[in-house]
Amino acid sequence: MFQLNNVTKVYECRRQTVKALNETSVSIGDNEFIAVVGPSGSGKTTLLSLLGGMMAPTSGDVLFRGASLYDLSLAERTKLRLSSLGFVFQSFNLVPWLSAVENVQVPLSLAGESVASQQQRAGELLSRVGLSDRLSHRPSELSQGQQQRVALARTLANDPQVILADEPTGNLDPDSREQVMNLLAEFHSEGRSIVMVTHDQFAAQYAQRPLNLVDGTIVDSRDVSSAA
Ligand SMILES: Nc1ncnc2c1ncn2[C@@H]1O[C@H](COP(=O)(O)OP(=O)(O)OP(=O)(O)O)[C@@H](O)[C@H]1O
Ligand SMILES: [Mg+2]
Repeated sequence: MFQLNNVTKVYECRRQTVKALNETSVSIGDNEFIAVVGPSGSGKTTLLSLLGGMMAPTSGDVLFRGASLYDLSLAERTKLRLSSLGFVFQSFNLVPWLSAVENVQVPLSLAGESVASQQQRAGELLSRVGLSDRLSHRPSELSQGQQQRVALARTLANDPQVILADEPTGNLDPDSREQVMNLLAEFHSEGRSIVMVTHDQFAAQYAQRPLNLVDGTIVDSRDVSSAA
């Protein structure tokens, strides 16, 4: 699914350079569930941004299904992101002035669906995450766990093959954390690949394989050579 070849990412910030990833290579297979773990500042979010087509590496290649992501035009990369990749964040990133159902409609609207079909599909996705009775609530009127479940419904809207999650349980209580992880496990069992950054042992145990980053380098990852 993904192949990183000798990827280095250097940030330049007010004349200071930080090497966030250092000559990193790794393969992520189809339908894998990976937990990216490692200390703060070790490059985990940077890795996820590179996989998500959001930021080009300074050197090296990021391949998605054999194609070099950053050799695509911006328009092609955006299209691929909308059709194949889903994102989940620690802070949910819902649009505060939109209701739950409207938040889930956003990707469907971007995909050009009619309003009636957007509403129907968004409603179905919200029932799937157990929120059929909260369709018109705004994010501020929902609990943290409910907000993350709205975000999961929104992620699923374009039926992505890959879900990239950055600390999806970071702001959640134990019950919500378990609900969110069970949903991610379900999405994985449907054939999707999941790459999840986490500090949370409970969340990490849902993954099939850890990818341990230290100072921008992957150490101690089992089976890194498995086929992309
Ligand atoms: N936009 C940026 N500009 C400059 N430096 C950055 C930028 N983003 C990240 N860095 C630096 O790159 C390094 C890796 O950052 P990254 O966000 O990938 O770490 P992380 O492993 O996700 O950490 P955390 O667990 O705290 O989220 C850090 O030292 C950070 O200071
Ligand atoms: Mg991070």
